[in-house]
Amino acid sequence: MKNFNLKKYPQITVLETTPQLEVLLTIIRDKKTRRNDFIFYSDRIIRLLVEKGLNFLPVRKKDVLTPTGAKYKGKKFVGKICAVSIVRAGESMEKAIREVCKKIRIGKILIQRNEKTAKPILFYTKLPKDISKRYVFLLDPMLATGGSASVAIRVLKEAGVKEKKIIFLNLVSCPQGLKNVLKKFPKIKIVTAAIDNYLNKKAFIVPGLGDFGDRYFGT
Ligand code: PRP
Ligand code: URA
Repeated sequence: MKNFNLKKYPQITVLETTPQLEVLLTIIRDKKTRRNDFIFYSDRIIRLLVEKGLNFLPVRKKDVLTPTGAKYKGKKFVGKICAVSIVRAGESMEKAIREVCKKIRIGKILIQRNEKTAKPILFYTKLPKDISKRYVFLLDPMLATGGSASVAIRVLKEAGVKEKKIIFLNLVSCPQGLKNVLKKFPKIKIVTAAIDNYLNKKAFIVPGLGDFGDRYFGT
């Protein structure tokens, strides 16, 4: 991460740099990594992002009795949730969120970057009807210029979602994209596994991992 003062952005949570995470990121960044390993190790990082993101949901006190007859002063989640994936690459993150949130509703926003200009084009939206009452996990593994995420957040807000109830889960980000999105939507939360250095002339993240969707879906 170059030229980025993370302390200025309390909205951003970066996964702790553990040896495990460094190994996983190295595998998926390696251009020699084959598709089945790319999927397997990306999925492992995505699972960590989902687990981290769940900590942003509100909880309330809940006491239970354990089989020993003792009282345990615990907690329970409050508030409804859903996930919304930015199609195509964001769909890769749906499996992990389904694994930890039973029966979660999943909305879709199809946005594609124009390959020449890198500008996002919105094609299709399908969201849960009561989305305005829910916390929303927005799913997209790559945050480059921030254009696609910004369009998606605008769509969510137009559907009545409160900005502060949007938790954007992301695998690789970069300073430009983070700044762009947070300038427009300062109340969202972003959980990312890595903040890379910059964008190249084609608006790809450097060092990055190339085109996530192509590598994950093999298309
Ligand atoms: C990729 C990625 C993000 C977007 C990030 O999608 O999954 O949605 O680019 O770039 P941005 O921050 O500059 O908007 P792409 O449009 O390539 O489509 P894909 O999901 O089909 O790969
Ligand atoms: N989309 C990707 O998949 N990778 C990038 O580096 C930028 C956009």
